[in-house]
Amino acid sequence: MAYNVTNLRCGGLENPMGIDCLNPVFSWIVMGEGEGTRQKKRRVMVARFVDELERETNLEWDDIKETEEMRVTYQGKCLEPCTTYFWKVQVISDEDEQIDGDIGMFETAFLSDEDWTAKWICLSETPLKRDYPASGIGVERKKVAVEDMILGEVYQVRKEFFVKKKVKRARAYITAHGAYLPMLDGKRVGHYELAPGHSDYANQLFYQIYDITDELQVGYHAIGAYVADGWYRSRIGFSGENCQFGTRLAILMQLEVEYQDGGRESIGSDKSFLVSKGAYQYADLMVGEKYDAQKELAGFFEYGYGGSVKETEEMEIPLTNLKAQPGENVEVLEEISPIFAERTDVGDIVLDFGKCVAGKVRIRLRERAGTVICMEHSEVKGVDGSFLKNIQTPFRDQQDIYVCAGKIGEVYEPMFTYHGFRYVKISGITREINLQDYQAVVVGSRLEDGGFFRCSDGRMNQLQENIRRSQLSNMISIPTDCPQREKAGWTGDVQIYAATACYNQNMKEFFRRWLSDVRYEQTEKGQIPIIVPFVEGHKRQFPQAVTSAGWGDVITVLPWVLYQYYGDKAVLEENYEAMERWLAYVRNTAKTENPSELHGVTGARKEHLEYIWNTNFHFGDWLTPSVSINMESGMMDMLQSALQTKEIVPTFFYAYSCSILSKVSKILGKDDKRAYYDGLFEKIKEAFQYEYVNEDGTIKSDLQGIQVLALHMGLVDGKAKEQTEKKLVELIHANGDKLDTGFLSVPYLLDVLCDAGYKRLAYKILYQEECPSWLYEVKMGATSVWESWQAILPDGKCTFVSLAHYAYGCVGNWIYRNIVGIRCLVPGYKRVEIAPDFECGLESAEGGYHSIYGEIRCGWKKTGDKIVVEVAVPFNTEAQVFLRNAGIESVKKCGRDVTGEMKIEYGTDCSGVGLPAGSYQFICTYMED
Ligand code: BGC
Repeated sequence: MAYNVTNLRCGGLENPMGIDCLNPVFSWIVMGEGEGTRQKKRRVMVARFVDELERETNLEWDDIKETEEMRVTYQGKCLEPCTTYFWKVQVISDEDEQIDGDIGMFETAFLSDEDWTAKWICLSETPLKRDYPASGIGVERKKVAVEDMILGEVYQVRKEFFVKKKVKRARAYITAHGAYLPMLDGKRVGHYELAPGHSDYANQLFYQIYDITDELQVGYHAIGAYVADGWYRSRIGFSGENCQFGTRLAILMQLEVEYQDGGRESIGSDKSFLVSKGAYQYADLMVGEKYDAQKELAGFFEYGYGGSVKETEEMEIPLTNLKAQPGENVEVLEEISPIFAERTDVGDIVLDFGKCVAGKVRIRLRERAGTVICMEHSEVKGVDGSFLKNIQTPFRDQQDIYVCAGKIGEVYEPMFTYHGFRYVKISGITREINLQDYQAVVVGSRLEDGGFFRCSDGRMNQLQENIRRSQLSNMISIPTDCPQREKAGWTGDVQIYAATACYNQNMKEFFRRWLSDVRYEQTEKGQIPIIVPFVEGHKRQFPQAVTSAGWGDVITVLPWVLYQYYGDKAVLEENYEAMERWLAYVRNTAKTENPSELHGVTGARKEHLEYIWNTNFHFGDWLTPSVSINMESGMMDMLQSALQTKEIVPTFFYAYSCSILSKVSKILGKDDKRAYYDGLFEKIKEAFQYEYVNEDGTIKSDLQGIQVLALHMGLVDGKAKEQTEKKLVELIHANGDKLDTGFLSVPYLLDVLCDAGYKRLAYKILYQEECPSWLYEVKMGATSVWESWQAILPDGKCTFVSLAHYAYGCVGNWIYRNIVGIRCLVPGYKRVEIAPDFECGLESAEGGYHSIYGEIRCGWKKTGDKIVVEVAVPFNTEAQVFLRNAGIESVKKCGRDVTGEMKIEYGTDCSGVGLPAGSYQFICTYMED
């Protein structure tokens, strides 16, 4: 098998249709086998036509460079809008082999506002009444029955047109104020769900592109769409507030048709589009939808429809916020059959899909016309096995209602909502239960797989599966906290989990897109909100908490994580200013504000206090178990961890963001800035020690999380470091070798213990099965990661928290780095350390990570005193392999015995320095400590 250039990506996507910038970024990898191990030189070619690309003539761009970089920004002739381009890469290896490979394609979308000839058309006759229930921290939220809620109407819009000549290529460019489902000649167009997705619409609204070439035969056609509330008008505000972006639904669509004879034509939305209400009675992203199939407008989306319709109204809306969808769209990811079904005493059906997912239920019906079917969703069952909705008001309803038409082959699948669920209760079904009639349809952003982990302990495999599952359930257009309740872009959750997310899936474009919203939402003062997009309804709920330490820091942490995984400085460059503004805000607050009891302080303390960030509301080490949870009753007082840690926690993040900015400044060549942030860090550290460290070196707090944060952020050294480590270990022992860390500290707990020489204790915590612990959740049958450790109590009772929060899944990163031992040494995994831990208590483990250069793998298995380790190093990278306590017997590279030939040191620890691309097998004798 020879080498091949493959995995061609443009703008991070395979053959994308929506490139709307003049300088897209290309990337590729080399796979297969050959002589060389690195890219010495590369040639990138771009052409308008595939035959020209093959013949290498008439190229739009032909760029040759001696470089190891496998990513480049297009610098060729100016790209034309709505045009297809082809591209390929030739790589010359360090052994001078020429490596050819796949051909990629990309298509430009609209490149300026002028390319839009379509008009925005308004569909709602009247603005929807805004409904803003009382909000604010501590305000009791009342349950409102669906019938009493103000819910928006759903519209269908249509336009007939004639195609006079043979079509060569046709595309539809569509977006909406609301969520839309495009239709052409009676059929759905494309397979995107909940388009145009969620973003900060005022600043950026994405449009999607659909290939409709095959559908447009010569003759008459009808194009149209359903338009529902989506994120635009649904009750997404924290207290169930609607209309967060506007009160009237609208759509913008433009068809670009290119005929085979070279002619072009556009058909754009305008007032000739006609609108009607139909079967959807309402469709709210949070509440659920109601569809009355008896009110379907048969033939509405087909040519020749004669039913009654109304005119639409053109609207003058600036087009400046429109962008072609960057990154992945939301799609159906998977379909799951129920594993169990039963009838309740009152005749409802309860289905169990076996795992907590995000999505909806598709149902095949054989009921009489007028039968009302209602589906309710939940993640848990009660202790007695009954259906239980553990969802807090105002997000409780999660009901999808369908009124049957009584037709043959009737199928209902909600299109404008999604839920977090494992169980569904369905009322109204009179027929016998047939499991094949039901499917859980999992929706989410279609991200590429990043990596995998499995090992000899089934509990750990389940944990990994749960982590991955919670990730899938929360990467839905934006990163959300949970699918069952708020479905909101909580910034802290991302800050905590991003580094694990990137191991499991390719997150680059997804997070980059969301970061652009984060920047838009940054306040004038520099605050980064606790939720992005930060709509009015969230602001009203948390008036005193626009930002919070550890949440706002997503602006420094996330770009830094993305840089480590994808090695792309552009991410740092585009966020640098926002990072600096955030830190300036923190610095200014620390400097100018102090809690009232500290007013009037003078001298050295006053000077130090200028570097302590200790005012305003913060979530602190959120959900610290011992502070906020009664482990017996499960009662939670969520705010307690905020109240008890909000004074000390912010300074940790002040220091942390400062140290990240110092590193970023260095990478971007801003040496003066680096010196400034280094200096600031030292001041914070000094102030922290002055303010929070006792004479004997201990920290003024008895919480595990606070010790962890002080150690991880590097704020204690010498005696104080020793004392803090000691105290952390004591606190863990006193807690029965169980963790007691909250949201912000849990990501670092195991690392901090290992760094301090307590690796065994770290594993003890990892394998702990008593609450609170990761494997407690597994033991209790979890299929996802919970918001809070005691979401289900030892006696099986459920508390009212979400069962699909990814935050605590952050341990996944530690597992990849330690048990399989894949660690990044140079950003982008250009240089990687592979140091599996044979002392982790497992018999075997295996894991892989798809880096930007290809898949890095490590698998190991013990048999008796032998241990076999298999490692794969991608082309153009090198690995430092370190096998502790393993005396090497033989080494094979790509199946050939190379024992003694390679740069490998033998002895008790076997280590290979700078091993080049290839697959390796090490057979070693294992010597236990
Ligand atoms: C969310 C979190 C979030 C938190 C703020 C919760 O309601 O679900 O994950 O970070 O509030 O502390």
